[in-house]
Amino acid sequence: MKVALASDHAGFSLKEAAREFLEGEGFMVRDFGTFSEDPVDYPDLAAQAARAVQQGECTRGILFCGTGVGVAITANKLKGIRAACCTDCYTAACSREHNDANILTLGTRVTGPGLAMKIIAAFLQTSFAGGRHQARIEKIKALEEVER
Ligand code: RB5
Repeated sequence: MKVALASDHAGFSLKEAAREFLEGEGFMVRDFGTFSEDPVDYPDLAAQAARAVQQGECTRGILFCGTGVGVAITANKLKGIRAACCTDCYTAACSREHNDANILTLGTRVTGPGLAMKIIAAFLQTSFAGGRHQARIEKIKALEEVER
C-alpha cells in the first residue's frame, strides 16, 4: 500500500512522525510536503496529495494541519475523495468500515503523536465492510454528479 502524506506548517511535526512510523511499518510513502515550519497554505499541499489518491497513484492519504479540518475540507472538494477528520481510533476504523474513507486527516494541535499513530494504524488496517454501506457510498457518488 502506498500512502500519500501532506501537511501545512502546523501539521509538519505530525507528518514527519507519521512518515517515520509508516516507513517502519513497511508502507511505501509519497510525501508531498511541506518540508519545514515556514508558513504555507494548506489547500496547496492537501490538494496535491488528494489528487494522488484520486488518480490511483496512492491507495490512501493522510493529511495534517493544525486541526485536521482545513485539509479535510480541501480534500473533500475532489471527486472520489472521502476524507475523514478523526480524533479517535473508533471513528478512524468506522470511517473505513462504513464510509470507505480514502483519506484520514489529523490535527497536530488536537491530537498528540502517540494517539495519532494509533489512529493511523486503525485507519490503514481496517477494510470497507461493503454490504448495506455500499448503497450509501453510491448515494454520495451520485451527489458528486449533480452538485456543483
Ligand atoms: C494554520 O494556522 C491553521 O489555520 C491550519 O493549520 C489549519 O488548522 C486549518 O484548518
